[in-house]
Amino acid sequence: MLAGTMSTDPEIEQRMAALRQQLNQAAYQYYTLDAPELPDAEYDRLFRELQRLERSHPELRTSDSPTARVGGRLLEGFATVQHRVPMLSIRTETDTTAEGAENFERHIRNYLAGEQRRHELEPTDPRYRAQPLCADAVRAVAGLPIAYVAEPKFDGLAMNLRYEGGVLVQAATRGNGAEGEDVTQNIRTIGQIPLRLRGSAPPVLEVRGEVYMRRDDFEALNETQRARMAAGDKVAKTFVNPRNAAAGAVRQLDPAVAAQRPLSFFAYELGEITPPDQGGPDFACHWDVLQALKGWGFPVSDLSRRAQAPADLAAFHTDLAARRDRLPFDIDGVVYKVDSIPLRRELGFVTREPRWAVAHKYPPQEQLTVVQAIDVQVGRTGKLTPVAKLAPVFVGGATITNATLHNELEIQRKDVRVGDTVVVRRAGDVIPEVVSVLPERRPQATVPFQMPARCPVCGSAVIREEGEADHRCTGGLFCSAQRKQALLHFASRRAMDIEGLGDKLVDQLIDGGLVRVLPDVYRLTVGDLAALDRMAEKSAQNLIDALQKSKQTTLPRFLFALGIRHVGERTARDLAVQLGSLEQIMAADAERLLQVPDVGPVVAESIHAFFQEPHNRDVVAQLVASAIHWPAASASTAAPQTLAGKTFVLTGALPTLSRDQARALLEAVGAKVSESVSRKTDYVVAGSEAGSKLARAQALGIAVIDEQAMRQLIGQ
Ligand code: IVH
Repeated sequence: MLAGTMSTDPEIEQRMAALRQQLNQAAYQYYTLDAPELPDAEYDRLFRELQRLERSHPELRTSDSPTARVGGRLLEGFATVQHRVPMLSIRTETDTTAEGAENFERHIRNYLAGEQRRHELEPTDPRYRAQPLCADAVRAVAGLPIAYVAEPKFDGLAMNLRYEGGVLVQAATRGNGAEGEDVTQNIRTIGQIPLRLRGSAPPVLEVRGEVYMRRDDFEALNETQRARMAAGDKVAKTFVNPRNAAAGAVRQLDPAVAAQRPLSFFAYELGEITPPDQGGPDFACHWDVLQALKGWGFPVSDLSRRAQAPADLAAFHTDLAARRDRLPFDIDGVVYKVDSIPLRRELGFVTREPRWAVAHKYPPQEQLTVVQAIDVQVGRTGKLTPVAKLAPVFVGGATITNATLHNELEIQRKDVRVGDTVVVRRAGDVIPEVVSVLPERRPQATVPFQMPARCPVCGSAVIREEGEADHRCTGGLFCSAQRKQALLHFASRRAMDIEGLGDKLVDQLIDGGLVRVLPDVYRLTVGDLAALDRMAEKSAQNLIDALQKSKQTTLPRFLFALGIRHVGERTARDLAVQLGSLEQIMAADAERLLQVPDVGPVVAESIHAFFQEPHNRDVVAQLVASAIHWPAASASTAAPQTLAGKTFVLTGALPTLSRDQARALLEAVGAKVSESVSRKTDYVVAGSEAGSKLARAQALGIAVIDEQAMRQLIGQ
């Protein structure tokens, strides 16, 4: 009987190994290549099967099992880990771009020349040099070019990942460089980190790299946290920047919480590795190490470049600075590294810094400044946003004087008061934000901020709906702030595209009573406009022409221009395509609207309510009566659908367009934009950092084009 049970074990063991292999492969495709192949439902099914088998055969559970990714028992603290190869810090170059790179090379050449002299003078003295310099060092002393690799300096946390027999056995923070903390359980939850190395792996391999949080993941995490706070969750808090959020997640004592924090990883160095004479790989240069890391299944940044001279390094520094805002993650500078491994060995360290690497930083994206006032702005939908008016400060490449405080809860939590010295952050395209207060610098006699009970613009009552974080003005279109925002939105480029109808003019039109409801803009005359401040006859006529021109539009643009809550460009397009005409849309009940893709109950209700409201029906009727029109047949858009039926995938940072802009351009000519590369993809538009989807496109033989070629296809 016992023998009978035993005999099934090899089968079960095999089945479990096969499941692990399949699930790990699927995770690699999903997280690292960003190109999922296994349907989610199938993944879940296999995952549950493995979980079941592990429960009934705990002795067959292994540490590379994907079930180990979802957290585990609560930790009491983190064990200390001795790093087998110390995790060094890096010298920071503070000189200008060009000089910084030249200093780096000069230091290297001077040091090597000194070593060579010593060896010549004292060839046998073991205190100096036992061996002559390596070939690359001799070449460097002779003045020949030195090969480098330039990499982004990722703004996250350094991590050492130890693999034994190809399996992840330990993840440790850098700590003080000699010892760090064992955070294996939390690191296992990062989908981009392989639990088992791909291909053939040396018996021992330590991979070093940066754990970080993408900017979009960070924004989304903070949104969720804000919603939790609004719903009364007392322990929820927002994070000041992606690095702090990542650090918090890595040091979470509850791995289940860590598993919900979206972390990413880039590999960039090795720690301990089986030496070549014991069967480990023998790398000639760092570039080969980076390629090997990719082969083992790690994400490696494709922003990194090889270089031959300080001028190349400086150019890398300058180029990346220009693109920094558009990258999907924070970087705080660049790192220059010597490429040749023998040369690195030759160069060694001074104190705790290698001579073969240097960091060259960028100006910080956070700065200190003083809050001079807290204003409350009223948006198009009546949302009240508190905004800190700041003493001007240069941060993240621009001078800022305003920073959002989001809502009352955020202000209360951070306790921001007028007079406070605060940390402001501006990163990428994200709106500048007050992240924290320095309490020790608070002047005397400050008062906590309070949201006004009446709208600062129209005096209507302000309410905060149950379970919502935002306060709203109840004035509706009676509120001139809301009217102004509504008019600006109506006129904006992606709505009715009325050229020349900007901030200043809108202020005058609304404040002067010339425009009370939207249709009034189409009743303006040259005479009305010419009477305004700084408005010559000529510019008045230009605006009238622009208004005339805007009447020829598309249904999606018109719908978007109406400013219905929750109706963005995409929803407007879907409504037009699905329902065909304005009349149908206005007549649709919530149930019919729910059939439109991506329209959920909240959006459906918002659209239905908008068109039920007699005032709104009247506004729409007046606009249509003022000769606004769109081609009835091609309801979707006015542009010729030259790319209808073609599927595009966007990846990486494009040189001049954001993802959204590129998507809008493609969709405007009928193309479909999809998230992942499959055999059905026609084109992959690749910018920098395009690693995984690009690799997948190449593997499938799909056309890869750049932004310029994409513009040509669109016919721009
Ligand atoms: S190399 C001895 N490469 O910078 C050099 N570090 O090193 C070992 N960092 O705490 C590190 N991006 O967290 C290296 N491309 C990169 C990096 C990088 C960011 C961080 C790392 C470390 C700090 C100083």
